[in-house]
Amino acid sequence: MSTTEEKMKPKVVVAPYGNPARSLAGRAISRRQALGLAGSALAGVAALASMPKTTLAQSSAAVVESRADVPSPLTYNGQGTFGRLFPRLPAFASDSPEVRANLLELGKREGIMDAEDPPPPANPLTPNPNNPDNPNLTAGITFLGQFLDHDITFDPTSSLQSQVDPATIPNFRTPAFDLDSVYGSGRRASPHLYDRTSPDGIKHLIDAGWPKDVPRTSQNIAIIGDPRNDENLIVSKLHLAFLKFHNAVVDEVMSGGATNPTWVFDEAQRLVRWHYQWIILNEFLPKTVGQELVDSVLTNGRRFYKPRGVPFIPVEFSVAAYRFGHSQVRPGYIANFSGDNGQPFLKHIFDKTANHNGPDPDDLSGGSRAPRRFVDWQTFFNVGPTPPGHENLGASPKPNKRIDTKLSSPLFELPFGPPNDPQTLAQRNLLRHLTFGLPSGQQVAKAMKIEPLTPDDLSDLQPLGFDGQTPLWFYILKEAELQADGLMLGAVGGRIVAEVFIGLLQSDPASYLRQNPNWKPDLGQNQTFEMADLLRFAGVV
Ligand code: HEM
Repeated sequence: MSTTEEKMKPKVVVAPYGNPARSLAGRAISRRQALGLAGSALAGVAALASMPKTTLAQSSAAVVESRADVPSPLTYNGQGTFGRLFPRLPAFASDSPEVRANLLELGKREGIMDAEDPPPPANPLTPNPNNPDNPNLTAGITFLGQFLDHDITFDPTSSLQSQVDPATIPNFRTPAFDLDSVYGSGRRASPHLYDRTSPDGIKHLIDAGWPKDVPRTSQNIAIIGDPRNDENLIVSKLHLAFLKFHNAVVDEVMSGGATNPTWVFDEAQRLVRWHYQWIILNEFLPKTVGQELVDSVLTNGRRFYKPRGVPFIPVEFSVAAYRFGHSQVRPGYIANFSGDNGQPFLKHIFDKTANHNGPDPDDLSGGSRAPRRFVDWQTFFNVGPTPPGHENLGASPKPNKRIDTKLSSPLFELPFGPPNDPQTLAQRNLLRHLTFGLPSGQQVAKAMKIEPLTPDDLSDLQPLGFDGQTPLWFYILKEAELQADGLMLGAVGGRIVAEVFIGLLQSDPASYLRQNPNWKPDLGQNQTFEMADLLRFAGVV
């Protein structure tokens, strides 16, 4: 190792986590397949049954890679499952045909959760009083939120039809903000994600023929660490931005004189993760739950998310609180300014009439490749004004949708998933509450010593009998609407998201919070770093 490398060496060397998902992720489960698995208990069991018993332990060992001599501090040993924040609270309702019917009614298309946006060919940017803008957040925050979710939680096996104990459901992602969705199992175990033309494969694979798209197989399956990051065009190109960010950081590290590929990779990965974690703690989380709550959890500690030993993902978070982001999705977006034959590529996020088996569906779904399917980030983040000639599209970036109990209409007709399963996202989220026996929002509020919403606040649920014991996801959306005017989460939702996010960062021995809490980012300007800086550094704007 050169003197420069010695100097740059991190003080504490920590191996990354093991990941139970990795061997399965390598089998390229698509979002459609994932939903298929989720929709069928039998299929889920089959998927698990086909997983060799030793896989989990082996995958832990595999990711240690170049640091094989350092034992992973948080290996799974088969224990990477979901859990509960409030194990003593009863379910919000017992699983009966009537309750199921009422949940389906609540989450149905043209039901009370549907914002009733005009369908294509209407312009999806047409203002809809049911779907108000959030002036505090830009449209890209939604997809950053989705990308973050795909880094920490993946349940492709639990069923919508029957109840399970979360502790028996494997989480196919590591519960850490470590970008396993991007790095897969590392260069040795996921070589298909890496560029063999870089020294010892230390860069991510980018398709030279399609540099504005994620790499794909000849059948258009994205060659990425988590198939869900190709669910829609925007999250897919965000994934691409992270691949390019890593590659740019590799160049940066090498420009300092380092030559040992293993060292360069590890150092670049650490910098990528720490800058990403900085964005989570200093940009995403304050915008989502408020700076005051972030400061309070950091200063006074967590009150409810206190994993003993290994961190886990609580179902109150994965099934309810963190699905708040479904309410931030707009009916459609300007993906780019002039990619559609010189015109803006402005479409609904999903259009059920589009040909999803073809190479270029007429919506913003993922899973396909065509010249117009790229993103100009100006309409999503603060990276610059609307380019000249496109002033008719209004100012950039576009605002996010407020968090409320309405979802944009395209989410009521998802273009993927098994045909016999509910195709509305709201119904899927609500049925998942029965799967895991989630407590009601009111019960959780009381357990947190927070004044619960009243039945009057939830009077629209009265005909369904959920106004007194409300499914947690709906409760958290209503709370955001009433307590924060939809600009961010309310008391219960904000507390769950803040504690789990901060808890995951604090439980990760490799995070900057653990290794060097006073660390400041050095790839941006003035010791700070936002998504806009990441996109610039990655060279995608
Ligand atoms: C266009 C955007 C999005 C689409 C189409 C989408 C779709 C889906 C679907 C189909 C599921 C599985 C539902 C089930 O069967 O239970 C899901 C799960 C989930 N989504 Fe989204 N989502 C989007 C954006 C977001 C955002 C912005 C967030 C958060 C900020 C989010 C958070 C979650 C979470 C936490 C889960 C559960 C993950 C798991 O444990 O497996 N999603 N989403």
